[in-house]
Amino acid sequence: MENEIVLPKHVGIIMDGNGRWAKKRGLKRSFGHKAGAKNLESLLKHIFKRGIPYVSVYAFSTENFNRDEEEVNYLMDLFVKYFNKKKSVFIKNGIRVIVSGSRENLREDVIDGIKNLEDCTKEFTHFTFNICLNYGGRMEIVDAIKKISQKIHNNELKLDDVNEELVSHYMYKDLPDLDFVIRTSGEQRISNFMLWQSSYAEYYFPDVLFPDFNEKEFDKSLEIYNKRNRRFGGV
Ligand code: FPP
Repeated sequence: MENEIVLPKHVGIIMDGNGRWAKKRGLKRSFGHKAGAKNLESLLKHIFKRGIPYVSVYAFSTENFNRDEEEVNYLMDLFVKYFNKKKSVFIKNGIRVIVSGSRENLREDVIDGIKNLEDCTKEFTHFTFNICLNYGGRMEIVDAIKKISQKIHNNELKLDDVNEELVSHYMYKDLPDLDFVIRTSGEQRISNFMLWQSSYAEYYFPDVLFPDFNEKEFDKSLEIYNKRNRRFGGV
């Protein structure tokens, strides 16, 4: 069974349900985020160990800035702590970490943490962990259009050069298409997550809240992915 399973090359996870996880336990939302971060650690290790080379997670959307200041600050502190604490683990395991999103409105310490982590892991090629932070899928496409238009304006590109492959190169990070996107907590929405890269992705919406979406749940998801018949528009 293990050997027969087809692995997606690029998995995306919309880590939803941290707040509800905490509420169910009578705790503050921040406890849910802390539990989510802890879960992400073991889950990531498991996914890479299974041989999946690209993992993208939705950590903070541009819209998440509309949350309570206390929650936003808690999350930013959590990201900074996570970047610093996990740096050696990423390096030891040869994992390249990249952060997709706008740097606008981000705190200086978050930007520094991102730069440092990206820089220390940039040589690794086997595994890539992409964190979508201050990220919006439509804005990513708008930003790509601006960059391409500027190149055309400067005569560095011709209009005829613009095709799907070229546009992919102008996304925040040059990543392969997503094969499989999982959104935890039962919500069945995309919420602006990697719109360009998920054109042909299979979607799965388990009812499990993210802090409980463990290795076993991930393996269950992989089995479901394997039952899907991906035709890419063919017959
Ligand atoms: C959505 O659940 C979750 C978030 C907005 C934050 C995700 C962040 C983590 C899992 C922390 C770890 C990440 C890194 C990169 C260290 P929600 O709060 O919307 O939950 P709810 O829908 O139940 O309210």
